[in-house]
Amino acid sequence: MTKEMLENIVLPEHIGVIMDGNGRWAKQRGLERSEGHKAGADVFRKICDYAAEIGIKYITFYAFSTENWKRPAGEVSAIMDLFRDYLFEAQEREEENIAKGMRIRYIGDRTALPEDIVNLIEQLENQSADKTTITVNLAVNYGGRDEILHAVKHLAEKVEAGELKADDITLKDIDGNLYTAGQPDPDLIIRPSGEYRLSNFLIWQAAYSEFWFSDILWPDFTSDDLDKAIIEYSKRNRRFGGV
Ligand code: FPP
Repeated sequence: MTKEMLENIVLPEHIGVIMDGNGRWAKQRGLERSEGHKAGADVFRKICDYAAEIGIKYITFYAFSTENWKRPAGEVSAIMDLFRDYLFEAQEREEENIAKGMRIRYIGDRTALPEDIVNLIEQLENQSADKTTITVNLAVNYGGRDEILHAVKHLAEKVEAGELKADDITLKDIDGNLYTAGQPDPDLIIRPSGEYRLSNFLIWQAAYSEFWFSDILWPDFTSDDLDKAIIEYSKRNRRFGGV
């Protein structure tokens, strides 16, 4: 996107991305599904950098859902390996990421992840906690319903402890107990690969999101596609229930 274009559009503050179509991309090429995820992880890196470059403040990538454990064990471990590789690399290139002002956050239920991955996540979250150019949320073992359940349990514990009255629970209390607490809701959600559903991604936060769908498979997704989605978003008139 040129500087001039950037000056004339409304940039979404937060973009959510469902990285879909890796398996089909691999199949089309006679490759293992894990090769599709590998290509998808490379695109994830490029799109992260590009989003930071054009001024997006928050971007959330859906990499692995609470339902994805049902996949063959080999595929699950290939995805975990790619996640681990990225975390290692992000840590090794700490200076580069810091220079980019990239804050890395994990969203999801980390209790089910391998311990070494959890440790890497925590180190990276701490290292990058004060960065403000862009926040990159990695959704791994993430499910929107699971996230809401987690928030409800936390609030119920407070009620049980007599710290909160059920009648006083507000929308803000629920927001504040989600994995994305303190972050703006996604303005734009992108789903490639010709599927038209949310698949349990940010279901609470997406109440007023705009959607952009495309037939492109995630490993073929480029910065030009991100531009297209943003330009289309910029033309939409968001009313948030008003007139
Ligand atoms: C959906 O495509 C994709 C996934 C379930 C995994 C996405 C994971 C990555 C891109 C790698 C994760 C790594 C990092 C660094 C976060 P699909 O397999 O459902 O594709 P299909 O619908 O064509 O079968």
